[in-house]
Amino acid sequence: MRQHRTIPRLRLLGSLLLVLAAGVAGTGAAPDGAAAAPAVRPLGDIVPAPTSVRPSGSPYTLTARTAIRVDADSRAARRVGAYLASVLRPATGYPLPVVDDDEARGGIRLRLDARGRELGDEGYRMESGRQGVTLTARTPAGLFHGVQTLRQQLPAAVEHDTPRPGPWTVAGGTITDTPRYGYRGAMLDVSRHFFTVGQVKRYIDQMALYKINTLHLHLSDDQGWRIAVDSWPRLATYGGSTQVGGGQGGFYTKAQYREIVAYAASRHLEVVPEIDMPGHTNAALASYAELNCDGVAPPLYTGTEVGFSSLCVNKDVTYDFVDDVIRELAALTPGRYLHIGGDEAHSTSHEDYVAFMDRVQPVVAKYGKTVIGWHQLAGARPAPGALVQYWGLDRTGDAEKAGVARAAQNGTGLILSPADRLYLDMKYTKDTPLGLSWAGYVEVRRAYDWDPGAYLPGVPASAVRGVEAPLWTETVSSSAHIERMAFPRLLGAAELGWSPAAAHDWEAYRQRLAGQGPRLEAMGVDFHRSPQVPWRTE
Ligand code: ACM
Repeated sequence: MRQHRTIPRLRLLGSLLLVLAAGVAGTGAAPDGAAAAPAVRPLGDIVPAPTSVRPSGSPYTLTARTAIRVDADSRAARRVGAYLASVLRPATGYPLPVVDDDEARGGIRLRLDARGRELGDEGYRMESGRQGVTLTARTPAGLFHGVQTLRQQLPAAVEHDTPRPGPWTVAGGTITDTPRYGYRGAMLDVSRHFFTVGQVKRYIDQMALYKINTLHLHLSDDQGWRIAVDSWPRLATYGGSTQVGGGQGGFYTKAQYREIVAYAASRHLEVVPEIDMPGHTNAALASYAELNCDGVAPPLYTGTEVGFSSLCVNKDVTYDFVDDVIRELAALTPGRYLHIGGDEAHSTSHEDYVAFMDRVQPVVAKYGKTVIGWHQLAGARPAPGALVQYWGLDRTGDAEKAGVARAAQNGTGLILSPADRLYLDMKYTKDTPLGLSWAGYVEVRRAYDWDPGAYLPGVPASAVRGVEAPLWTETVSSSAHIERMAFPRLLGAAELGWSPAAAHDWEAYRQRLAGQGPRLEAMGVDFHRSPQVPWRTE
């Protein structure tokens, strides 16, 4: 949906405005040669790139008297308004009361309008001018994404948690914006290293700023089981008691998991929990001897090898276990999906793998969820409606790619997470201290510069449901580590998921990404300052 100005013209105009604004803003020469940011960020100078941008009229400047007006009859809109106020208050120091919309003019208005069909389930329109800024959407999620746009149009200093001088000015004009894909995800592996609820919330907040709407939690692996299961309690209490390198690990109680789900929902993210099966199961096998074919529990594992473990496919107790785990996890999870892993089952024969997936997928359906599996599931019989998550690379063999394409042609949806593009744990360069390099080095351009809609040969564009950036944590054990690897590459994934294909342009992207540097800094995110990006200062 592209109204008004088309993207190529927008790009030209945007670059021109950037150049002009940088020239006239009079902010002086920046230190260390970085470009100084313009005083008022040009409309649309955000990540992900909006669908349509029409600069016009005068800018709007927040004041100490600005109110956030919301539809009186919508609690959801009021919640988005309260969220916006909570984002803007610390740095502006303004009270920003959230009040019922009284049709008075001015200030910030959040409007839900069910008639705005063209805005879809997540789109919004932002109109700004001298009097104020109005966000309109059909859904609270759309309003929430609009709030992220408004936030990014303000100076980066708005992200500080203590008062700054301002002024807090938004360029004038209209943005109309809808996502390319409904699935825009990030995965956090909480198994190889455990991350606390607080650490997960922090990452959720960072994702929300870039309109990511799905948090995939990799909750089990060889090194740790991270979710309480009442019917099999040792999974968490024993299987969760360590992690890579032998640290103490941890797990989420059901209350903590619900807290993560609720927090994600408050940021309009859906949680996709993953229990990886039949491989990547040493933590479970160590916790319950009966899950092993030989009845002997292996020791806990704190290394980083893959492919050595398997549930015992021919034992009935395996399916009692799977049923119990999926039932309890489904009951905790309001989202549509349950991810059953299925990758690197190198200790399971192909016949056993297919038989296992034939028994496990109906269990997911029985408890009301839709299956997601890593793309090896395409080599079995994906259930109707299942999605597979592609994590191959350029060098992945044609036969494997063709198998995924065949599944897609037969109706299986695809989430794209090519490891040599979107794996956030790959090193940027050989000098990156953290991360792995089995899929190669993934600098910022490589992460961004490809088209999900035309990536795998033979896959109909309609089969692609979106993209996801996984962060595996063999080498990652703190929020600082997460941020160093995720930023700025996560922004590229976010843009691939949201922005129209016609807006895809590395040169324009790296200019807009450059403007996110001061914002990430203000948020306390120590990101990778890639030399591919002309980082700005503000
Ligand atoms: C994977 O990276 N084994 C999905």
